[in-house]
Amino acid sequence: MRIYCEKDYDAMSRRAANIMAAEVIRKPDCVLGLATGSTPVGAYKQLAVMCRQGDVSFKEVRTVNLDEYKGLAPTHDQSYRYFMNNNLFNHVDIDPANTSVPSGLAEDAEAECAAYDKLVESLGYADLQLLGIGNNGHIGFNEPDSSFTKETHVVDLTESTIAANARFFESANEVPRQALTMGIGGIMAARKILLIANGTGKADALYNTVCGPITPECPASILQLHGNVVIVGDEASLGKVIAAGVPVCK
Ligand code: F6R
Repeated sequence: MRIYCEKDYDAMSRRAANIMAAEVIRKPDCVLGLATGSTPVGAYKQLAVMCRQGDVSFKEVRTVNLDEYKGLAPTHDQSYRYFMNNNLFNHVDIDPANTSVPSGLAEDAEAECAAYDKLVESLGYADLQLLGIGNNGHIGFNEPDSSFTKETHVVDLTESTIAANARFFESANEVPRQALTMGIGGIMAARKILLIANGTGKADALYNTVCGPITPECPASILQLHGNVVIVGDEASLGKVIAAGVPVCK
């Protein structure tokens, strides 16, 4: 695990965007696993700038997103499909047909999950999987639980995730109670994983991810078993990891 400690959100975003751009330049037809939420917005902005300046092209890139709220249409402004279009896809030269987000509207959500796993498998899994992390240690919407779930599945969101995501909705009541999420198997099958985090709210989750036992109580702790993980955090989010004496790159 290589850990970069950046001074603030902007520096974290630049580092993350550079790592992602490097992957696209190395392999123009790579598969990028993508995340939503507040953390990657800055990195996506940087990638859009790089693309506009002609430093990187997404023409051949395929993408697979981690998750989607169950019940939200792609046109809903809080759906993850809408988020991706708005924050990245509409600002780079990617072919929309090469982008995939699970459908929150599928009548048979279980079948949608199974089909999503087949799709990700048929693409050969992600060359680079971008992850954010929940305050509770979730990755994708793999919430703390008594066991890890390998496949894409429908998940009941925890009260802490609903509370954390209420900031994006009019009220906590509006936050969908369920989501479709790629499972731990799909995430761990990525050749490289880039986890990004900022703010003190993520400090415990990052500490448990890096220094804690590998347990489904902190889903991100499974990343200790992956051979190619890069964590990029700001000083606030990495405070506890650094205090524990874990070496970080500056
Ligand atoms: C979203 C996702 C989630 C978020 C996490 C952090 O696609 O997979 O795991 O990365 O909830 O969200 P933010 O970045 O809003 O703190």
